[in-house]
Order: sequence, then structure tokens, then C-alpha cells
Amino acid sequence: MGYTHPTRFAGVMGNAVLLAQNFVAEVTNEGCLAVDATSGNGNDTLFLAGRVGTSGKVYAFDIQPAALEVTATRLKEVDLQDRVVLIRAGHEAMDVHLTEPVDAFLFNLGYLPGGSHAVYTRPDTTVTALSTAVKLLKPGGRIAVVVYTGHSGALEESQAVQNMAGSLDPRVFGVLKVQFANRPEHAPYLILIERAIAKDEDLAQQTDC
Ligand SMILES: C[S@@+](CC[C@H](N)C(=O)[O-])C[C@H]1O[C@@H](n2cnc3c(N)ncnc32)[C@H](O)[C@@H]1O
Repeated sequence: MGYTHPTRFAGVMGNAVLLAQNFVAEVTNEGCLAVDATSGNGNDTLFLAGRVGTSGKVYAFDIQPAALEVTATRLKEVDLQDRVVLIRAGHEAMDVHLTEPVDAFLFNLGYLPGGSHAVYTRPDTTVTALSTAVKLLKPGGRIAVVVYTGHSGALEESQAVQNMAGSLDPRVFGVLKVQFANRPEHAPYLILIERAIAKDEDLAQQTDC
């Protein structure tokens, strides 16, 4: 291919992960509380930690110690470790670790790139975690889910995420499915969720953090 310049999120080198980050960036500012539901190699955790500033906090979950170790190392390299709580637990247990209202969630599903392809997110636990996220989300807050369909079990998870997101009350949540129209059918796609600001008290708790 003759295209070598990395472009923004929808370009030749663009990808669903950057789109997800862009979607939550607008509501993830200094002092905000953000959650990376799958810390993996730490890219999203670092991104969120950069956004929330010194007075904000990021909670990052993963079930694989190797993922959390990589993330911890990368955070230390850029001195952002103090604003991140790394949790070795499945995101389905998020409600045990987190009760405060949250500004933004990133869910990057699937398996750890460079790690075992046998460890990947599953429909039941992903839906449990997303249901918790929806409950914890502040008015005006956002959830971005990067969904993969190429690996074993992925289609079931993709369907479960769509069913869950599709059942959210449209008076309270805006839900988008965003897909590259000119890439293979199994390319990653996004489910983007935003909670509406419905009342004056919602506005008062809104996400300028
Ligand atoms: C695609 S990777 C995440 C990429 C990561 N966000 C990044 O920026 O590098 C998916 C991760 O989900 C993790 N995972 C699988 N099941 C999980 C669960 N129930 N709870 C939390 N993490 C899980 C895997 O261990 C893997 O590291």
C-alpha cells in the first residue's frame, strides 16, 4: 500500500481503539474518574491516566498478572503510577472495587496482544461488567467498547454486547454501533454509550470533574 502517514482515528492507519479513546476523551478531563476494564498492555490505561491529571484517578482491571505488570512498568516509566489503581480481578467484580460515579469506561475486549490467545473476555462476564458500568456512569459520562469478532467465542460475545447495549433505555442512553464500512466484516467495531443529562441535578453532577 502506498499510504504511510498515520492518520487520525478513521484513516488508513486508524483503528477502533483510537476511536474509542477519542470518544471518551471529551468527558475525561482533569480530576475525572475513569476505568480501564481490560488493562492489557497498558495503552488505554496510560491514555486515561494522561487525561485525568494529577487530581483524577483511573481504575484498571485485568485477570492476567503479566498484563498488570506491563501496565505498571509503563506507568512508572512516565511517572503516572500514582493516579492509577491496578486491580487483579475480573471486571465482572467491578462493583466490589468501585462504588463512586464514573466519568468514562474503556472496554477493549478479546485477548492480550502478544499473550495467550486462550485467555480472552467472555460474554457473561463482559455483560455483567457492562451492566455495572452503566449503573456507575455519571450523567454525561461515556462508555466505549472495542468489540472483536475474529477469534474463537468472539461472535457470541459480540452478540451479547449488542443485545445488552441494544436493551438500554433510549430515554437515558444514547448507543451507537460504529463500524468501518470498507474493511473486512470481522474487523473490530465499537459500541459507544453516552448517558443523557436529563435534569438540573444531573447537570450539577456532570462531568467537568
Ligand atoms: C485486548 S486486551 C486489552 C488491551 C488494553 N486495553 C491495552 O490498551 O493494551 C484484552 C485484555 O482483557 C483481559 N481480560 C480477559 N478477561 C477479563 C476479565 N474478565 N476482566 C478483566 N480483564 C479481562 C485479558 O487478560 C487481556 O489483557
